Amino acid sequence: MSDAIRPLIAGNWKMNGLKSSTGEFEAMLGGAGALSGKADLLVCPPATLVAAFAGMARDGMVAVGAQDCHPKPSGAHTGDLAAEMFRDLGATAIIVGHSERRADHGESDALVRQKAEAAWRAGLTAIVCIGETRQQRDSGKTLDICKTQLAGSLPDGATSTNLVVAYEPVWAIGTGLTPTTGDVEEVHRFIRGVLTDRFKEEGDRIRILYGGSVKPSNAAELMGVANVNGALVGGASLKAADFLAIAAGCP
Ligand code: 13P
Repeated sequence: MSDAIRPLIAGNWKMNGLKSSTGEFEAMLGGAGALSGKADLLVCPPATLVAAFAGMARDGMVAVGAQDCHPKPSGAHTGDLAAEMFRDLGATAIIVGHSERRADHGESDALVRQKAEAAWRAGLTAIVCIGETRQQRDSGKTLDICKTQLAGSLPDGATSTNLVVAYEPVWAIGTGLTPTTGDVEEVHRFIRGVLTDRFKEEGDRIRILYGGSVKPSNAAELMGVANVNGALVGGASLKAADFLAIAAGCP
């Protein structure tokens, strides 16, 4: 973890959670104070819960975000949601380009870039996800894939406040598998280089999260890797105790 960058522990609830899940979020709000400011906390519930969570979190220590948005601010796009709508509800960030959206909805780097720009237009932080498949890793293409995804998905004008990059190896998501700390270090160092080349001094301060099977038992080790500035957590973010324990693992 880079000394100067405050870590971010972000929870991606994916398509999980009902009105009855507010209790779990309440427990997160209740436990956040005890972390003594170790990390910024963000929870991205499904769109159906953003309003409720943002209302509960007002003045709280946990920010609320969304998981996707349409590139446009409004219009004839049945079923889609605009970044401005999430802003209106009190969200502060939007995940864009998650591998599940790239795979399930065929999202291209160009579309992910438009979505990141939409988040910025609404005044929100874009959390842009990248990462290689197992096959790509096995064929030695990890850094090439990350390079291409970064070049295509990140808009110009990124800063340490409007952009977070999440490195999520597809094969590590929901599988219990994680790369070695050496592999994480290599990819995060590479991403840092791309960010500083393109965004100069801002690139040095943009947070790079690791995501993929982060849990309380491996969080401290992963968060201790150079250029790992926090985590994007799926399954383990659904339980307040696990989510808070991961944040407690930040150095
Ligand atoms: P898991 O933590 O469940 O592996 O999911 C990671 C992820 O996809 C977060 O966006």
